[in-house]
Amino acid sequence: MSAIYDILADSELTSLRVARRGQRLELTMARSWDPDLDFARYGQDFHHDAPPNRQPLVLGDAQARRKLGPAMEALAQLEVALRAGGHEQLRLELHPKLDMRVTTYIHSSTLGRNNGLHGLRAGGLRRHERQTAELEVLQDGLNLSRAMTFKNAAAGIPFGGCKLTAQCDAFDPRSAEAVERLGFLAWVIDSGALITGPDMGFSPEMIDALQARFTRHILCGPGGRLGHTGAPTARGVFKALFAAAQHRWGPSGPLKGRRVLVQGLGSVGLPLAQMCAAEGARLLVADTSARALAAARDVLPEHEVIDSERVLDTECDVLSPCAYGALFDAERIARLSCQLIYGGANNQLVARSQAEELKLATLIAERGILTQPDWTYTSGGVLLGTEEYVNAAGPSLERVHARIDQVCGDGTRTLLERAEREAKTPTEVAYRQVEELLAGS
Ligand code: PHE
Repeated sequence: MSAIYDILADSELTSLRVARRGQRLELTMARSWDPDLDFARYGQDFHHDAPPNRQPLVLGDAQARRKLGPAMEALAQLEVALRAGGHEQLRLELHPKLDMRVTTYIHSSTLGRNNGLHGLRAGGLRRHERQTAELEVLQDGLNLSRAMTFKNAAAGIPFGGCKLTAQCDAFDPRSAEAVERLGFLAWVIDSGALITGPDMGFSPEMIDALQARFTRHILCGPGGRLGHTGAPTARGVFKALFAAAQHRWGPSGPLKGRRVLVQGLGSVGLPLAQMCAAEGARLLVADTSARALAAARDVLPEHEVIDSERVLDTECDVLSPCAYGALFDAERIARLSCQLIYGGANNQLVARSQAEELKLATLIAERGILTQPDWTYTSGGVLLGTEEYVNAAGPSLERVHARIDQVCGDGTRTLLERAEREAKTPTEVAYRQVEELLAGS
């Protein structure tokens, strides 16, 4: 199967846009900037809305579809996914020389329109390896951006939902050759009217480098005014996990002696594991990286290491996925032996749409397992980014913490009570709540 980005490359084009117009998806393919453009000069020789373009070329919908003929199958799958997710727009930008494929997924701009800011939608920037299948990357971005719409809405953030993926080799943000790459990423972020922050795959220091040199529309690097997103995200996840544990096991010391299995000891999983341990939980941990496990050995109290392959089959009280998502399908749900699923991973269910999520959530509930969409409580990072951006003159970590506790902790408490009262899954109630909010805006 031919890949869409390969066709852009073969045709010496830079960009593909897929925009939803009612039920129709409208394609535009273009050479919208010089394919040999030196993005190290972004912000100096050219700005976000007018990159140099000596030989512009624009293909409308019919022509673009013809051009994409060899990737027809991929395009058809992508269109199904876009419709299922209800996305507004998808933008692919290819830098042939740098071999960077940067995709912007715009799920919804509703809450960001007319907010008085440059950024209309917020979501993180994730890197994927070059060898990962194109559709897998695109589907990941589509799912993540859809969750961002709901995450932002539920957290009262004045932005719509988006995500960015960059498929490229890892690079050292401090090296000279990185400058052009950083410029390209910054241009995509700025031209998309996006607010972005850290996600998986890039080093946190890259955020600082991007911000220092090119754009203030990326936030939350470790050197930023409020620091990195890891700890605040972990705080929100912990508040939700704790509230759910109280809901299930009673108000006092609900985690005492409980086996909490944390999958992934990254910038969210590690502090989360520490917080659970401080509440008397028995820690089980897993990570595919021996280095992460070694680092955890020094900072975590007593814990048992579980083979990464066996995580989903391991008996525990709380399963806490804190790495990649797309973990639970019907077959895996049938095998689970835990009581709660609460973790920092985004999009834990294998689903492309809300309808698919609701079905899987029902299967989980039928197994007596308590869970809710991660977007209801993984908003610590984007809340931090919003504070850094919107209150640039005097950002306050205390304010962010109070907001996280409210959104993720209190929010979980009221969500679980309402779900119980209405005899519905928390997932269904969470979606209903945000839809009511979006409909009213
Ligand atoms: N990566 C964060 C998330 O997925 C989003 C984020 C956006 C963080 C902007 C900071 C700033 O929730």
